[in-house]
Amino acid sequence: MFRPKRPLIHFTPVSGWINDPNGLVYENGNYHLFAQYYPDAMKWGPMHWYHAVSRDLIHWKHLPVALKPDDLGYIYSGSAVFDSKNSSGFGVAGKPPIVAIYTNHGKTEQQSIARSTDYTEFIPFTSNPVIPNDTLPDFRDPKIFRKPEGDWGLVLAAGDRVKFYSSANLTDWKETGEFSEQNSASGVWECPDLFPLSCGNRTKWMLTVSMGSGAADRGSRTQYFIGDFKNGKFVSDKPCPDAHWLDAGFDNYASVTFDNTPDKIMLGWASNWIYADKIPAETYRGCMTLPRNITLSETPDGDFIPVLSPVKIGIFSECNYSEFRSLGTACFCIKVSGRGEGYVTLSNSAGNRLMFGVNGNNEFYFDRTEAGIKDFDENFASEMFSVATHKRIMSGSWHFELIFDSYICEIFADGGYSAFTSLVFPEIPYNTISCSTGVKARIFKSNSTNL
Ligand code: FRU
Repeated sequence: MFRPKRPLIHFTPVSGWINDPNGLVYENGNYHLFAQYYPDAMKWGPMHWYHAVSRDLIHWKHLPVALKPDDLGYIYSGSAVFDSKNSSGFGVAGKPPIVAIYTNHGKTEQQSIARSTDYTEFIPFTSNPVIPNDTLPDFRDPKIFRKPEGDWGLVLAAGDRVKFYSSANLTDWKETGEFSEQNSASGVWECPDLFPLSCGNRTKWMLTVSMGSGAADRGSRTQYFIGDFKNGKFVSDKPCPDAHWLDAGFDNYASVTFDNTPDKIMLGWASNWIYADKIPAETYRGCMTLPRNITLSETPDGDFIPVLSPVKIGIFSECNYSEFRSLGTACFCIKVSGRGEGYVTLSNSAGNRLMFGVNGNNEFYFDRTEAGIKDFDENFASEMFSVATHKRIMSGSWHFELIFDSYICEIFADGGYSAFTSLVFPEIPYNTISCSTGVKARIFKSNSTNL
């Protein structure tokens, strides 16, 4: 039986099942990651919040479960903030609280909060829910953000739209507006986020929305809108008949950003609801993407587009090809450059071949058709989930960085204008790299003693 090795530099739970990242928050040098979690099986079940903490976003310490199902229901996705000014009044002895907000999924979906001043044990608020609901069937995934006015903003998903709220104390919330956009992507809206990004001397707001398993034809994906956020309302710069996707790969869902970091850092769940519960697994199921810095760039046509780059990993060192051949490592990075059409193939002696490069239409592409084990699910093995492409916004020479970690492949192309995140299950590690004429690859091995 094929047993995937645990990734070295990606977050995975000790056991059980995880999906969406929740409550990403930074305090005093610690990054907190919570996640949708079911401890009793390697499949989705009554949701809890997993909790882990890291000082570099690569090495994680596992902490006790933060939230368990209660009288109001399961603990669905949500967010957390570091309330440094103690606006909530939940601080104790001068120690500011982390306040988490989540959806209680019971008879209906309602928003509840919990607080912590030791940043480990979370105590649900006695007057939950703080945003009640008894009519809407889908009303979930609250994400708190900081408003320029100094109070707190919140965005949550409500069926085919998002709703905005504001609050001075994280407890009393008032609705301020909503946003919806009928475009090519259908599906229930989930896990929204809203945050400002500066570009030159302008500040734009980016709204991200994950799209359920019905998103167009590729399952779970995250779309984005760029615009302005004023008076509690978001206005998109342009109506977009075609959805703009944050990641061109198959496996990056429910991406959200950390609270309280100077730069915006985002990570997602590296899977797709279409086949998430069938991927090969032994002791746990589910994995996060690498954390990425997200910035904004303006194209010559005046469009704003997000640029993604992985946070500094610090465990890779350059090696030569013969070292790579003999290494058989499951975690490595390659930096590839070329011009015009060109490709790279990673392969192994089991006959697995992963291909990527630039095609004749000036598109980056990623092809996992023959990359490894795929018969665990008919969708994963289908044509639809085999080849992904993304149109380049520039022409001429190109480059990309590929980070491979056991069964997750992440590509950041042209400095992050295109990102592809996808699961790939080689039977044994790739140890051969072949490039088409003119394409060059530098190889970096992981120094696993760091972990
Ligand atoms: C997204 C999602 C959320 C929900 C959670 C339940 O993947 O469906 O909308 O809160 O998963 O686990």
